[in-house]
Amino acid sequence: MKISMIGTGYVGLVSGTCFAETGVSVTCVDIDEKKINGLKQGIIPIYEPGLEMLVKKNMQKGTLQFSTSIAESMVDAEVIFIAVGTPPDEDGSADLQYVLAVAREIGKNIDHYMVVVNKSTVPVGTGQKVKQAIIEEQRKRGVQIPFDVVSNPEFLKEGNAIEDFLRPDRIVIGVESPEAEKVMRRLYKPFILNNHPIVFMDIVSAELTKYAANAMLATRISFMNEIARLCERVGADVNMVRKGIGSDPRIGNKFLYAGVGYGGSCFPKDVKALIKTSSEYGYDFKILKSVEQVNEEQKSLIAQKVMKHFNNDIKGKKIAIWGLSFKPNTDDMREAPSLTIIKILKEHGANITAFDPVAMDECKRKIGNSIAYAPTMYDALHEANAVVLVTEWNEFRLPDWQKMKALMKENVIFDGRNIYEPDEVKEAGFIYYGIGRI
Ligand SMILES: NC(=O)c1ccc[n+]([C@@H]2O[C@H](COP(=O)([O-])OP(=O)(O)OC[C@H]3O[C@@H](n4cnc5c(N)ncnc54)[C@H](O)[C@@H]3O)[C@@H](O)[C@H]2O)c1
Repeated sequence: MKISMIGTGYVGLVSGTCFAETGVSVTCVDIDEKKINGLKQGIIPIYEPGLEMLVKKNMQKGTLQFSTSIAESMVDAEVIFIAVGTPPDEDGSADLQYVLAVAREIGKNIDHYMVVVNKSTVPVGTGQKVKQAIIEEQRKRGVQIPFDVVSNPEFLKEGNAIEDFLRPDRIVIGVESPEAEKVMRRLYKPFILNNHPIVFMDIVSAELTKYAANAMLATRISFMNEIARLCERVGADVNMVRKGIGSDPRIGNKFLYAGVGYGGSCFPKDVKALIKTSSEYGYDFKILKSVEQVNEEQKSLIAQKVMKHFNNDIKGKKIAIWGLSFKPNTDDMREAPSLTIIKILKEHGANITAFDPVAMDECKRKIGNSIAYAPTMYDALHEANAVVLVTEWNEFRLPDWQKMKALMKENVIFDGRNIYEPDEVKEAGFIYYGIGRI
């Protein structure tokens, strides 16, 4: 089987590589020539555990190729995936220009039956738009080559993407023809040998499923962040509340962590896009508007705690930041809460020194050298008045308190992810601030 993956970002590169791992011949395509040239030489453009090894292995096996030409990749391909970005437009809706540009390119080049799969996160109705774009280009050519459009939203998590793709909880596929269903079932067969289900449905339901999943997860986070705010007011510990409610199987214990708010390339934009889609269909999605508002407030909360501790005067104070990426095990800085926190602290005159195990280059690309970067987590603490833990990388979990004390000017910790035991930290001689705990 031969397939083509258009868009070689987090989703396209991981999906393409994992399909190649099953023996399928995959061509990953991107318009970014630098990225494709790098990949041809084995340079992986993103940090994702396990990815480099799999890419190299499948390149050597000959199952994974890279190209900048959609047309070339379509030769003999049975399936073509669209996995390009869908960033938020100015009004919050998903910007479909990249998806539709690929659809037009497919329409210009298609010469045999293919299944065209939308893997990008796209709003309800995009399947139809992709179909129309392909038909329109065929009409210009005076041809009518049959094809099917399928919706196959991706649920992988950055930082655990390979594992998620190879062993998915479920695969959601929206189809409208038995032929396309057959092709998709064959392609995904290797991933469901462990009884993970493929859920077939109509295209619109599949498109909405992806947004509903991300919106539900974002809602859990904002809900817990509000519980945390209440905990601080009543003197409760949000970690205890989390354990207390999470053991109820109806609730479950995942995604109940209070912290510095959600970020990343998906939740913020998908929540926005679902609010927008709802309003386009005449529905005011009240819960999601609150989820978004709570999250915006939450991203600045820890910076406010820092301000309060220093009596609203942090001018010239040196603040260390541990963790920059929006979550551990990735270098993705899109909508990372660290950016909001750094911005606020800098606006009030603080000097920031940051350390992140993998995201410092990406951070430099985003905000340049407006902050200092330390080569190690301890170097960041030199003469610091406080440290703010923003991303819960494993290496921050059991720090050497005495070493920290010796390095820091003042011993104050702001734990944005509640990873430390307050009593232990206090015993070590630090002033401790968490989220939703005293
Ligand atoms: N990142 C995630 O964790 C994740 C998870 C699930 C779903 N998604 C969704 O998947 C989609 C892709 O996300 P991503 O994070 O991989 O994006 P990304 O920005 O990392 O990658 C997108 C790639 O598409 C390329 N591209 C754009 N236009 C192109 C064209 N015309 N032809 C060829 N390539 C083109 C870009 O150069 C880029 O390399 C989005 O809709 C996103 O919401 C992302």
